[in-house]
Amino acid sequence: MRIKDFLPRGLMGRSVLIVLIPILLLQIITVYVFFDRHWNRITSRLSYAVAGEIAVIAQATEDDDNPKNLERLIGYTAQNLDLLISYQPQETLAAQADPVQANNLWDALVANLLKSKLEGALRRPFRLHVDLENKWVHVGVQLQEGVLSVSFPQSRLYSSSGYIFLLWMFGISLVLVILAMIFMRNQIRPILRLAVAAERFGKGRDVPTFRPQGAREVRQAAQAFIDMQRRIKRQVEQRTAMLAGVSHDLRTPLTRLKLQLAMMPAGQDVDLMKGDIAEMERMIAGYLDFVRGEGDEIPVAMNIGEIMSSVVESARRQGLIVNYEGAGAETVLMLRPLAMERALGNILGNAAKYAKAAQVALFVNDGRLHIQVDDDGPGIPPDAYDDVFRPFFRLDPSRNPETGGVGLGLPIAADIIHSHGGSISLSASPLGGLRVLVRLPL
Ligand SMILES: Nc1ncnc2c1ncn2[C@@H]1O[C@H](COP(=O)(O)OP(=O)(O)OP(=O)(O)O)[C@@H](O)[C@H]1O
Ligand SMILES: [Mg+2]
Repeated sequence: MRIKDFLPRGLMGRSVLIVLIPILLLQIITVYVFFDRHWNRITSRLSYAVAGEIAVIAQATEDDDNPKNLERLIGYTAQNLDLLISYQPQETLAAQADPVQANNLWDALVANLLKSKLEGALRRPFRLHVDLENKWVHVGVQLQEGVLSVSFPQSRLYSSSGYIFLLWMFGISLVLVILAMIFMRNQIRPILRLAVAAERFGKGRDVPTFRPQGAREVRQAAQAFIDMQRRIKRQVEQRTAMLAGVSHDLRTPLTRLKLQLAMMPAGQDVDLMKGDIAEMERMIAGYLDFVRGEGDEIPVAMNIGEIMSSVVESARRQGLIVNYEGAGAETVLMLRPLAMERALGNILGNAAKYAKAAQVALFVNDGRLHIQVDDDGPGIPPDAYDDVFRPFFRLDPSRNPETGGVGLGLPIAADIIHSHGGSISLSASPLGGLRVLVRLPL
């Protein structure tokens, strides 16, 4: 358990936190200082004043409680002090004082403050009742010959601007956070777009509409990405064109050699040389075939099951017994269909060539599409797993035309799968032969 685990992972969450934490800290400090210094003091002074006024009235009532004087007193206090008073001679205060009830911390604080101030000022038994609903306070004071009741609005005890101040503070920070979120969203969008573009490019798809946007640093990264993408494309194109040219040009001297051989007297040597030339021609044809198919095909959204069934079908025609389990056949991927068909065709073609039966499974796992081909052939020794991906590498070095093949099948398949952002790996199959596992991003 580290702090990191609790922090938001996204840029948005993090930046909101960066805005929020200082604001919250500031507010906590402000509220503390405000409450302690300002609000407490004001409330305590107000309570002190009210308690003093009540004490004066109580004293004046006790000094002279004839009705005329009382009437005058009632008039004065109602007019000038905002206090309503009444006097019940010969009454006594109920023995038990009401407990001070409050429905929130604020009211409780106010009531307790007033109680302590009244205790200090009156020095007589009294009863305090806070009418929470109507926000009125009633105080009954026991005098020598009766009970004095004083009522006044709660607002006499504290300044309501305290509430408003706090409300303002929280309101403003809420607005700040919302504003920050809106602005951050606009800052994050170009980064997200860059991430999506890079991911698409990694899967071999084109990103023609991508443009640098947003803050300078993000634009810089986007521009670097665009340049890199262009460079990679150009490099691939150049190399492909060059190799295609070389292969093509090799055909002319090969044709001349073939002609010269045809004019030589027949013999064992000549036959061997003819065989070699035939193989070279096949290699070149295979390579040119590969180069021609690449590059210009456009990725489309495709049902992988369609490609797979046609590949399986053609492997069956080549005599392979195929058990096909297409659990993930409905998966739609962005693919270059001809290229993908060729890649999978090469893999199943190998099984058809080197084995008798194969088990093909198509499933989605871990957010990737898995294509697993098991066969019961002789397999490949583990130390040759890397070699078979090299062009023209074959386990059977005799270059026996019977088994056909020039050794381009797996390299071409790997190339196509990598250009779709996928991976291909070999291992031993439980069927006794080779297991080829292809994984493609969804
Ligand atoms: N399923 C398999 N079982 C046993 N060996 C295999 C299998 N697949 C490939 N190999 C070995 O790996 C080598 C390279 O395979 P790859 O498909 O690249 O070439 P190829 O099949 O010989 O020729 P191509 O596919 O170009 O016609 C093969 O020559 C073969 O020795
Ligand atoms: Mg092959």
